[in-house]
Amino acid sequence: MKQTLSLHISHALPFVSAEAYKAIQKEVNHAYSELFNGTGKGSEFLGWLDLPKQYDKEEFKRILQASRQIRRQAKRLIVIGIGGSYLGAKAAIELLTPTFAKKRKLEVLFAGQNMSSSYLAELVEYVKDQDFAVNVISKSGTTTEPAIAFRIFKKLLEEKYGIEEAKNRIYVTTDKSKGALRSLALEQGYATFVVPDNIGGRYSVLTAVGLLPIAAAGIDIVDMMRGAKEAYKLYKQKDIRKNDAFLYAAMRNLLYRGNKAIEMFVSYEPKLTYFAEWWKQLFGESEGKDHQGLFVASANFSTDLHSLGQYIQDGRRIMFETVVQVQNSPVDIVIQKEAQDLDGLNYLEGKTLDYVNKKAFEGTLLAHSDGLVPNLVIELNEITAFSFGHLVYFFEIACGLSGYLLGVNPFDQEGVEAYKKNMFALLGKPGYETLKKELLAKLAQKNG
Ligand code: PA5
Repeated sequence: MKQTLSLHISHALPFVSAEAYKAIQKEVNHAYSELFNGTGKGSEFLGWLDLPKQYDKEEFKRILQASRQIRRQAKRLIVIGIGGSYLGAKAAIELLTPTFAKKRKLEVLFAGQNMSSSYLAELVEYVKDQDFAVNVISKSGTTTEPAIAFRIFKKLLEEKYGIEEAKNRIYVTTDKSKGALRSLALEQGYATFVVPDNIGGRYSVLTAVGLLPIAAAGIDIVDMMRGAKEAYKLYKQKDIRKNDAFLYAAMRNLLYRGNKAIEMFVSYEPKLTYFAEWWKQLFGESEGKDHQGLFVASANFSTDLHSLGQYIQDGRRIMFETVVQVQNSPVDIVIQKEAQDLDGLNYLEGKTLDYVNKKAFEGTLLAHSDGLVPNLVIELNEITAFSFGHLVYFFEIACGLSGYLLGVNPFDQEGVEAYKKNMFALLGKPGYETLKKELLAKLAQKNG
């Protein structure tokens, strides 16, 4: 049987000194013991580490039941959340359901991930005449963006179905005992699902946070957890020669130390676009601290070869690429011969589009590494719920170890609070009066 995932470093290794490569195993050993013995920074948030084996089976059953109920009662599910409370589900649904579907049993739509009034107004307009349900997801239960969106959709549900029926259409995923959302859910009697205390938002896709909307979209979450479990069993070895997740973590740190400031997630499959967004949050929020860390970006090829491709090939030599390359396409299109070869494509007769896409990958890999852009290549056997689960766990464990190699706490995100404090003060939230004065004075000074 073909393995789910394998990492290839031959297009990156020439950019790393042999001594540095040899020396990093010792650091990996140290980071490994921090991760597995729970002695590193932020160790109270390591619940994701054993999750594929130790998840709450009762909660899992309830998730499956609720997903079936949602599919019976609604044509649209509005998933309300931001950051780790939405990106995992969005990534899975984009990857594992058809992009263009004439008929969908249930359409999953997202809200609360921005504060655009046009986005929200259009979404309200789009769903208001359809049967819909809401899954509001917030670990803290106090995040502004989802809280505002929830107010709006709760009211819409109550107006449409009446207060009692609206309650049957609201599914809440939040902390098990605290937060405004928990109190509201208890008071109103909404169905609730738990974000475990020891799992941070960006590591929570394999909890109810991701699993409920993913299952509601019709994706096999049993298989997804099996894929995560395969990865869980596989990425336990200390030795980077035997553990692709840790080899990936080691290589990205070595490249970073070699003055590569940017890591670009690349794929040739547009269905992975939101997976890249999830990946960016995972690594960006975990490592971008103490004025350190790789800046994580993403591109979809060959689309972006016609835009960013120029910079990657010829711009500043500050980046490397991590390519997730899908081996087997579930469908393919054969290029036919035309009587008159006006576009000059007859030389491709009988070749598949996937074959052409793979040649674009091979050609780009060589061009970029010749252009001094190192490439790490992750081969993913196929796109399934199983491989999604595997890939998620691969990056999670790589990220945990990578953060420790970098010397930061990969499980906090204090930097995110800075904008919130200012926004609250400028909005006039009680308790922020002094800060508001300071900020207004600063603004007046800057605006002359
Ligand atoms: O990774 C994280 O913890 C954050 O990005 C959160 O997921 C995000 O801020 C949303 O938080 P909450 O679920 O508390 O609304």
